[in-house]
Amino acid sequence: MFSKEATQKLQANTTQLMKELENGKMPVKEIEKLRDVLRFHEYRYYILNDPLISDYEYDQLFKMLEKIEAENNSLVTPDSPTQRVAKGLTKEFPTVQHLVPMLSLDNSYNEEDLKDFDRRAKELTGTNKIEYCAEPKFDGGSISLIYENDMLVRGATRGNGTEGDEITTNIKQIRTIPLSAAFSKYGLQQVEIRGEVLINKTNFAKYNQQLIDEGLPPLANPRNAASGTLRIKDPAEARRRNLEAFVYHISDYTLLKGKRVPEELQTHSGSLELLWDLGFRSPKKEMKVFSSIDKVIEFCNEFEIRRDNLPYEIDGMVIKTNKVELQEQMGMTTHHPRWAIAYKFKARQATSKLLNVEFQVGRTGSITPVAKIEPVAIGGVTVSSISLFNEDVIKEKDLMIGDRVLVERAGDVIPYIVKSLADIRKGTEKKIKFPATCPVCDSRLFKEEGEAVWRCINIECPAQVVERIIHFVSKDAMDIRGFGEANVRKFYELNLLKDIPGIYTLNFSTIGEMEGFGKKSIDNLQQAIINSKNQPLNRLIFGLGIRFVGETTAKTLANAVSHLLDFKDFSLEQLQNLEDVGPKVAGSIHHFFSSPDNIHMLKQLEKLGLRLKNDKKQLATGGNLGGLTFLFTGTLPTLKRGAAEQMVEQNGGTIVSGVSSKLNYLVVGEDAGSKLEKAKKINTVKIISEEEFLSMINKK
Ligand code: IVH
Repeated sequence: MFSKEATQKLQANTTQLMKELENGKMPVKEIEKLRDVLRFHEYRYYILNDPLISDYEYDQLFKMLEKIEAENNSLVTPDSPTQRVAKGLTKEFPTVQHLVPMLSLDNSYNEEDLKDFDRRAKELTGTNKIEYCAEPKFDGGSISLIYENDMLVRGATRGNGTEGDEITTNIKQIRTIPLSAAFSKYGLQQVEIRGEVLINKTNFAKYNQQLIDEGLPPLANPRNAASGTLRIKDPAEARRRNLEAFVYHISDYTLLKGKRVPEELQTHSGSLELLWDLGFRSPKKEMKVFSSIDKVIEFCNEFEIRRDNLPYEIDGMVIKTNKVELQEQMGMTTHHPRWAIAYKFKARQATSKLLNVEFQVGRTGSITPVAKIEPVAIGGVTVSSISLFNEDVIKEKDLMIGDRVLVERAGDVIPYIVKSLADIRKGTEKKIKFPATCPVCDSRLFKEEGEAVWRCINIECPAQVVERIIHFVSKDAMDIRGFGEANVRKFYELNLLKDIPGIYTLNFSTIGEMEGFGKKSIDNLQQAIINSKNQPLNRLIFGLGIRFVGETTAKTLANAVSHLLDFKDFSLEQLQNLEDVGPKVAGSIHHFFSSPDNIHMLKQLEKLGLRLKNDKKQLATGGNLGGLTFLFTGTLPTLKRGAAEQMVEQNGGTIVSGVSSKLNYLVVGEDAGSKLEKAKKINTVKIISEEEFLSMINKK
C-alpha cells in the first residue's frame, strides 16, 4: 500500500506536524496532510501491526485534527479519520438488500471430501488443470461493504443472505476497514465486498473479564462477541470492543466509463492482492495457491496445527477455484457456490453427562452455579467443571441434572455448555434448584432489579472474605508469589488470617510449625509479602476488588490522584469525568470510599508500609487537577498550548475536545472565540485565566 518513498515522506510529515503541535500551532492549511499522516499510522498499527509512532503521539495528532475540524466545520470530509467516532445511539437498523445474495459454503470434514470436491470441479469445467486458492475460514460475523466512487457508503450484516441490517456506523468503528479506498485506480466505480468481522483472542478475554467484573455472564466465544457487537446500538461501545475485519471476496462491481475489467479480478488471489493494495486487510499473506488438491490438504493440515497460535479464531479453511472464469463455469446452487468449499477443522465439542450443579460464592457475594460433568476430553484438555454464570443461563439452556449436554471449548476460551440434549431425556432427570440462602453463611440471597446474579450481601461472609484475600494476592493484583488460593484458605480456616491487612501481620512462627511449610518456603513467602508493599498504586487499587473496577479502570484511578485517600473527597461527577468511568462504575467507587471500614482498612495498610501515594504524581507538581477536565482557547500570555495541555495531564487532569457539560474549566487567552461564547451558556463550565490555572496547579 505504501512504497518505501511514501513511507519516508509520511514519516517526515509526521515529524513536521509534531513540531507544529509542540509549538501550539494549528496547521489548518495542512489538514489533508494531517489526515494522510493519521491514515498512514492507522495502517501501520492496525493492518501491519508495526507502528512507527507511539500511541501518545498518535493521540496528539488525532486531537489536533479534531480541534481543527471542530473550529472549521466546513473542512470535515466523510472519510476523515475522525469520522469513525460515533456519537449517540442507533435507533434501528434499516433492512437493506445485498447486491448479490450472500451464500454460505458447502462443508467438508476430511481428505476424501476435498478429493471429491476436486473431482467434481474437474468434471464441471472439463479440465484437469485447476488452481485452488486456500485461505483461513475466519470465525466471526459476515459483513458486506459497498464502496462507491472510492467512498465507503454502506456496511451490512449477512441477515438471511438476501437482506441484512444496515450497520454502517458500527462498521466505521472497525479500524481495519478503510473509510475510502482508491478503487478508481483500477477503473472500478461501485464495489461490493464480503468479509468477516472478528474480535481477537486477547481483546475477547479482556472484554469477558470486564463482563465478569460487572457481574454479567461472559460471552461464550469470540464469534458471538463479534457478531453481537455488529448489531449493538451504541457505536461507542462497538468501538471499545476493538473489532477487526478480514475481507475475502469481491462479489460485485461496476466499471467507470470506458474502463475494462482489471486483470487482478480474473483470479481470486488477484482480488485479494488488489484489496490488500487498497489498504484492506485481506488474507493475502495467509492464502496460498496450489495446482493439486493433495498440496491443498497438506496446507490445511498445517494450518490446523497453527490454529491455536493465531491471534484470532478460525474454524477451518476455505478452498476456492482460483480462476474466475472457471468459477463462472461451475456456477452455484441456491445455497452455495460450487467453486468453493469450507474444510472444517475437528470439532472442539463433545457430549457428556451433567452430574450435579454446585453453587460458589464470589468476592462480591455473587452466587455462581457450576456444572459438574463426567470428565470429557476436548481439544486435548479434560473438562469436568463448567461455570453456568447465573440462574438465567440454567433456564435459557433448559438444563436438568442427569442431562446429556453438548460442551464446547474453543481455543483459549473457557469451556461452556452449548445446550442440553433434551430430546433424549429418560424422565429420570432432576430439576436444578437454585438455593434461597448462601451456601456458606446461610444468609438470605438477594437479586437487584435488572440483574441476573443472586448475591449474598453479608460482607463478613467467610466465602467473600476469603475470595477478596485471594484476589488481593493474585498475580494481576499484588502478585504475592507463593501465597495462592490454597494457603489463603488454609490460613483463614486456622484463624491465622482474617482480612487483607492480616497478610502483613501473619504469624510466621505458627506457620513454621505447620506441616508442609519448610524454612525455605516460609522465607520466600515472607519476602514476597514484603516486596508487595512496593507494588504500584494501580495494582493495590485493582487488588481491593471494588466492583466494576478492572485493571484498566484501576490504572485510570491511580493516575487521577496523588494519594489513594483523595478519593474520599471525589464527587460522583468528578469520578465520572475520568476516562471510561460511567455512572455505574463511579457509583461503586464512591460507595467503596464512603465506607468507614474501607477507609480504616486503607489507613491500616498505609501504616503497614504499603504505598498509597502515586509516586509519579509526586514528581510532577502534585495531582491537583485529578478528575477534572480542561480546554484551552485563544492565545495564552505565557504558556504554549502544547505545554499547557501537558501540564494538565501531568497533574491528573484530562483535555477534552470541545465545550460541553463534561468540561469543568475553560482556560481563556487573548482573542478567544466561539468556545468562550459556548462555555458562557453552560452554567457548570468555569471560565478561568492562565494565572488562575497556574495557581490551581501550584496549590498545596
Ligand atoms: S467465501 C461466495 N472465504 O464462512 C463466497 N467465506 O460458512 C462465500 N467465511 O458465509 C464466502 N472465512 O461468512 C469465504 N475466507 C473466507 C471465509 C468465509 C469465513 C464465512 C462466510 C460464509 C461462511 C460460510
